[in-house]
Amino acid sequence: MNSLYRQASALSLVTLFSILSGSVSAQLGGVGQSMQSYAESCAVCHGENLEGAALGVPLLGELRHGDSFDEIVSSIGNGFQSAGMPPWRDTMSESDIRNLALFITETRANVSYSDFNYDTPIAIPEGRIASELQDFRIETIVADLDAQPFSIAPLPDGSIILTEKKFGVRLISPNGVKSEYLEGTPEVFSDTYKIAVDQEWGVGWLFDIQPHPNYEDNGWIYLYFSDRCSDCNDLSRQSGQAVSMNKLVRGRIENGRWIDQETLWEADRQFYSFTTDVAAGGRIAFGEGGQLYLSVGMKGPSNFEGIQDLSTPWGKIHRIYDDGSIPQDNPFIGREGSYPSIYTYGHRSPQGLEYNFTTGDLWGTEHGPRGGDEVNRLLPGRNYGWPLYSLGMDYDGTPVDYGRELGIAFELSDIEQPVVDLTPSPAVSSFVILQGNQFSRWNGDYLVGSLKARSLYRLVIENNRLVHRETLLEEFSRIRDIELDRSGNILLLLEHNAGSQIVRLVPED
Ligand code: HEC
Repeated sequence: MNSLYRQASALSLVTLFSILSGSVSAQLGGVGQSMQSYAESCAVCHGENLEGAALGVPLLGELRHGDSFDEIVSSIGNGFQSAGMPPWRDTMSESDIRNLALFITETRANVSYSDFNYDTPIAIPEGRIASELQDFRIETIVADLDAQPFSIAPLPDGSIILTEKKFGVRLISPNGVKSEYLEGTPEVFSDTYKIAVDQEWGVGWLFDIQPHPNYEDNGWIYLYFSDRCSDCNDLSRQSGQAVSMNKLVRGRIENGRWIDQETLWEADRQFYSFTTDVAAGGRIAFGEGGQLYLSVGMKGPSNFEGIQDLSTPWGKIHRIYDDGSIPQDNPFIGREGSYPSIYTYGHRSPQGLEYNFTTGDLWGTEHGPRGGDEVNRLLPGRNYGWPLYSLGMDYDGTPVDYGRELGIAFELSDIEQPVVDLTPSPAVSSFVILQGNQFSRWNGDYLVGSLKARSLYRLVIENNRLVHRETLLEEFSRIRDIELDRSGNILLLLEHNAGSQIVRLVPED
């Protein structure tokens, strides 16, 4: 057993598991409990696999009383006495009912907590793919990438720059030929440790990569990664193991080399920890006026410490300028002891991050615990609630309220609620906001990927409310990143153990 694993196993299992959306096997806490109580109280009428039985209706397919999480909670709680379904509110706690409703929505959506689909073959539909407004086809650009890529970004000459998080940065030529790893990029590390589920953890990985909006003039490429060191703070010295923290640099590429590197954002060494980079966030987004946003997930000592604390960098979205300086109108600037780059706080495991140039605001996706994946509109100075409150449940079957443990009192109105609640959790990932001529019928829509659920969604958001949701692709692939290329086609970075891929969605007329 390596030292990282030993350290990890010293934490409680539930804490470890709950760092990730979906990283729970069935025998644990709330998931196991809800399966058991379904078998004991419901299966007699609704069938062992929700298929229905003599005394009750199927819970698969269309539901008469609504299929959203809230509607199912209310069906279970209130029952339908005259039709033969008892109200369960009197005999079950609110938590038990919510866990049962999660179990039903997860089963209906075919998302399992023990299978992350790293090995389920990528299934790319052939030919024309129909959808509500716009048919399209999928073309593969390159298909033999590392199992754990993180980010793609198109360059003006039609090539694509790629990070493979444990190995390095590559260029993919317009016809799909991959380069060697660039020389001179920050050092990254491929030693990982596994927890009980199919999930590799480690520290010292590459994250997002993006050219500057004026790349054609200045040649700058922004690279976000996890800066790893040993024997560099109290934690690493006491534990004898490597620690890391998010760091942003920019550099230029010349003849296969990464040169001119400058550091733009980094944290004090006291904040470096051995918490896995899986939860590190790691996305950047350029905004207006040279502003740049970066996400930092739960890199603190546990999945909830320091996230509500404005003196730590964890669980935050930060805002800086593209040269690393700090905007003087950042919301917490000048507040005693607070991190001046903080823009929003209370984030759990941020995934996608994009600036909407039409509406002039920042958007992000993030993983909830069991349920409660989110699409958020990120407003300066606002609190996004972790670990005080979530629409999902903790993996141990209880509601999320670590505020009590931390001694933090709050009102629900202090917490910015998601624009879109994704329950059950598909393990939401990156997204793009569509604009341009290629997919003009989708302009303004949010194209959102998922990992575990292997689906691509189109969300129509008007006046900061979800008005329509279409699943464009399902049983498709884990989707790690989404970008628009220069001609407005959609690039997807697909993740798979036997070889990750970059594909392009092209409209069919
Ligand atoms: C004694 C039989 C019985 C038991 C036990 C029972 N149900 Fe039901 N349930 C029914 C019937 C019958 C209906 C259909 C009600 C109707 O048509 O209005 C129903 C409806 C529902 C619905 C709404 C379905 C729809 O189409 O909208 C849900 C959800 C549900 N049950 C969940 C549960 C859960 C969870 C349990 C266990 C805690 C449970 N039921 C236990 C008989 C039962």
